[in-house]
Amino acid sequence: MAFDVDAYARAAGPVRTDGLGDLNEQFARQPLSEDALRCLRYMHDVESHTVCYLRDLLMTASHKDPRITTFLTVWNYEEHSHGEAIGAVLAAHGEAHGEERIGRLRRSQGRFDAVRPLVSWLASSAVGDDFVAVHMSWGAVNEWTTRAGYARLIERAGHPTLTALLGRIMAQESRHIAFYAGEARARLAASPRARRITRWALGKRWAPVGSGVMPAQETAFVLGHLLDGPSGRHEADRIDALIDRLPGQAGLGLLTGTASRYAPA
Ligand SMILES: [Fe+2]
Ligand SMILES: [Fe+2]
Repeated sequence: MAFDVDAYARAAGPVRTDGLGDLNEQFARQPLSEDALRCLRYMHDVESHTVCYLRDLLMTASHKDPRITTFLTVWNYEEHSHGEAIGAVLAAHGEAHGEERIGRLRRSQGRFDAVRPLVSWLASSAVGDDFVAVHMSWGAVNEWTTRAGYARLIERAGHPTLTALLGRIMAQESRHIAFYAGEARARLAASPRARRITRWALGKRWAPVGSGVMPAQETAFVLGHLLDGPSGRHEADRIDALIDRLPGQAGLGLLTGTASRYAPA
């Protein structure tokens, strides 16, 4: 059944942090490791960067489809709330979060950031309406990897409060997956050209979430930490199997390639 975007918009909202108890107290009693905090800083920054990705995406053919813009409006709000929720965990450890970190990241983007909307517009103009299939497929891959990243951090950190909070975020990521993957499947199935261009874009241009805006050593650390060991490899294989099932996208090996690069066995 097709994703009901209006029902999603009515039910959506910021991820809830009530009922988790006093975060300051719980993390003072059982603080997270430096490795887990380093992953959370990355996740906080990238979730909070969603509005900037949205800026670029609205320059593309996707903005012409009201179903997609309704989704993106709500998606952006939910992703923003993920940044805020993770910021509360950083705050409980006495760490910088929210505007302080986000402002620093925005200022660090350099001159290329100013032309990103232009690059998006040029790419979309060159491809035409099939660009929407690329966007939806790319979104599905990024949501699959984001949710898997949270699952792996839950496993590695083994902290009950973090598990509860990230579990709530993952439930929202699952709805994002349902939208992107459903749109991607339908659009790829309908157009051989969309399948070809998407395959080229994912194979040649896709890079892990956040890698375009975060310092390279932070991306390398987070991917190495989360893709490490049999569990990390299992998640990479699982996501590649999901990508394989998108029409025309079998055998790309995006995540197994990422795992062998960042977390060699
Ligand atoms: Fe998110
Ligand atoms: Fe998401």
